[in-house]
Amino acid sequence: MTIDWPRLRASAAAAAERAYAPYSGLRVGAAGQAADGQTVTGCNVENASYGLTLCAECGLVSALHASGLAALHAAGASGPLVAVAVVAGDGEPLLPCGRCRQLLLEAGGGDLLVDTAEGPVELKVLLPAAFTGTDLSQRRQTE
Ligand code: THU
Repeated sequence: MTIDWPRLRASAAAAAERAYAPYSGLRVGAAGQAADGQTVTGCNVENASYGLTLCAECGLVSALHASGLAALHAAGASGPLVAVAVVAGDGEPLLPCGRCRQLLLEAGGGDLLVDTAEGPVELKVLLPAAFTGTDLSQRRQTE
C-alpha cells in the first residue's frame, strides 16, 4: 500500500492545531492511515488533574474504532492501522511515548510504519520484545 507521508504529516499537524494543551504547551497531533487508505486523527487533551491527560495517539486509536475502520484488515498487514505520523505543534515528527507505542501495537501490529525524522520505522523496532495478548492468554490463571 502506498503511503503519502507528507499528506499524513499534514493531517497530523492540522490535528495538533486543535490540541488542548494549556498545561504543557506541547500540542501534539497524530494521523493514521487505515487499511482502506482512510485517515484517522487525534490530538492531545490535557486536564487540570494532570494525570488524566490523553495523548494524541489515544484519540487516534479511539477514532479508528469509533469510525468502524478497526474492522478492516488488509492482506499482509499486521493490523487495521498501517501507518502513523505524530507531530508536535511545529509540524515535525514526535516519537510516540512508551504507553502509546503499546497502544499503537494493538491497532497496527509490529509492522505498523511510524514516521520519524529519519523516515518510516516499523513499530517493532521502536517497541521490541513487547507484551501482547498472547502473553495474556498463555499466562493467565483462571483460579
Ligand atoms: N503527548 C502525546 O500526545 N503523545 C505522545 O506520544 C507524547 C506526549 C502529549 C501528552 C501531553 O499533553 C504533552 O504531550 C506533554 O507530555
